[in-house]
Amino acid sequence: MDAEAWNARYASSDLVWGADPNRFVAAELADLAPGRALDLACGEGRNAIWLASRGWTVTAVDFAGAAIDKGRRLAAHEGVQVEWRVDDVTAFKPDAGFDLLLWSYLQLAGSDRERALQHAIGAVAPGGTFLFIAHDLRNLAEGVGGPSEASVLYRAADIASLLAGFTIVHAGEVLRPVMRDDGTTADAIDCLVRAVRYP
Ligand SMILES: C[S@@+](CC[C@H](N)C(=O)[O-])C[C@H]1O[C@@H](n2cnc3c(N)ncnc32)[C@H](O)[C@@H]1O
Repeated sequence: MDAEAWNARYASSDLVWGADPNRFVAAELADLAPGRALDLACGEGRNAIWLASRGWTVTAVDFAGAAIDKGRRLAAHEGVQVEWRVDDVTAFKPDAGFDLLLWSYLQLAGSDRERALQHAIGAVAPGGTFLFIAHDLRNLAEGVGGPSEASVLYRAADIASLLAGFTIVHAGEVLRPVMRDDGTTADAIDCLVRAVRYP
């Protein structure tokens, strides 16, 4: 989806992803000492705002201006500061000084994926944390929800293989219960990679 399609999606309802942080973001990062964080493809800022409320200095980037506008309003309502930026993560090259790089459900394919991952990994400071959460390739056949195009799905091992100079803390699948339209729940299959750059 391009920025226009995402803007249309964000314009069509209140909060698409809700105000609470993603469950894996909260579980993985609750105990991490705050520093500088970069939330790539932040959407409406649920994770950026949660991090800022915990003392992080957060830069949040998304190419959908409508999402950033909602993030700004939500942050003002919560009384937290976030540096918002409307930009395409396949072009935006952040500086290298982030203590946390968060990649949450940014589903890219091909050379866009390669470029954005290269920039993201390069942005992590020595001793900093790279946290990657996304829809897993296996979700297509065995999970629920998420993108229906295999090219934008990930395997944790492929992401971990890019992380030279990092200690891999975790790389694998995680399950996220999802409520279906008929009221029953089923597991979505996500992949999660957490790694720390060598000091
Ligand atoms: C599934 S949403 C996830 C939002 C947020 N990370 C979260 O977890 O709530 C994917 C987001 O990626 C953004 N996005 C997709 N491609 C992008 C790109 N090339 N540059 C910047 N943002 C992008 C979309 O606008 C959308 O907000």
